[in-house]
Amino acid sequence: MNKKAILLAGGAGTRLYPLTKIVCKQLLPVYDKPMICYPLATLMLGGLRDILIISTSKDLPMLEDYLGDGSRFGIRIEYAAQPKPDGIAQAFLIGADFLGDTGASLILGDNIFYGKLDFYREALALERGACIFGYQVRDPERYGVVEFGPDGRAISLEEKPKNPKSHFAIPGLYVYDNRVVEFCRGLKPSARGELEITDLNSLYLERNELHVKLLSRGMAWLDTGTQTSLLEAGNYIATIEHRQGLKIACLEEAAFRMGFIEQAQLERIVDDLPKGEYREYLRLVCAEGPAAYHPEPAG
Ligand code: G1P
Repeated sequence: MNKKAILLAGGAGTRLYPLTKIVCKQLLPVYDKPMICYPLATLMLGGLRDILIISTSKDLPMLEDYLGDGSRFGIRIEYAAQPKPDGIAQAFLIGADFLGDTGASLILGDNIFYGKLDFYREALALERGACIFGYQVRDPERYGVVEFGPDGRAISLEEKPKNPKSHFAIPGLYVYDNRVVEFCRGLKPSARGELEITDLNSLYLERNELHVKLLSRGMAWLDTGTQTSLLEAGNYIATIEHRQGLKIACLEEAAFRMGFIEQAQLERIVDDLPKGEYREYLRLVCAEGPAAYHPEPAG
């Protein structure tokens, strides 16, 4: 696998006003940490270490201040601005130089995945084509929707259809081969003036080069788009963390368990953290050592 990653933390966050008047959506808390930690941890647990974060010029300084160049987590983070919310697929045009000739995975900064990530690692291992996922939801009309034929193959993709042809929403996590930038250059803006991710995926579908994997119902894919779903996501994370005594998407822990940073580096990080629960947790992680058995590293 030779892939880089883009984390798109864009959007005006209008539905979360007034919260988003102060801070961008992706830095709002989901229980005990900023929202962006969850998608970033997903990329890291997928084994990706070259990451471009795209956001608005207004929000980039705050994101950069929080995550830096990524060395603290044993990864490389670059930053780029999306001046206007001109669509998700535009991320690949903005990131063209960063990607060079490698394939790419894209994750949206407000998407939270919790569970076994095998499905993602398998997708990242694909050499050719693209891979998207399907997840059963009650309200598919709010998302991209995939329709399957009788043989189980995907036959259509639609962005927020009024009359969805299935209950399978397409989560904001995508994997593409190294033709993705070229394909994006050929996209035309949709009726709402955006370069649609669904149009990009349809190009792969038309060529018979789109893999669609269904996520098992045991996976959690959580929404954070409204005040209520944000609260529900926070409650979900809190419930699991309290039960297990393990944190979900603790970036320092993910880096350590993935072998991106050594114990000595984690010790130094812990020493510099402000006193509190997060520091005590990481102190325990560090003391336990990298080999501690957990079926899935860090949520
Ligand atoms: C975007 C995509 C949609 C996808 C969703 C996942 O929609 O356009 O296809 O299902 O993310 O979160 P948005 O949430 O930006 O409206």
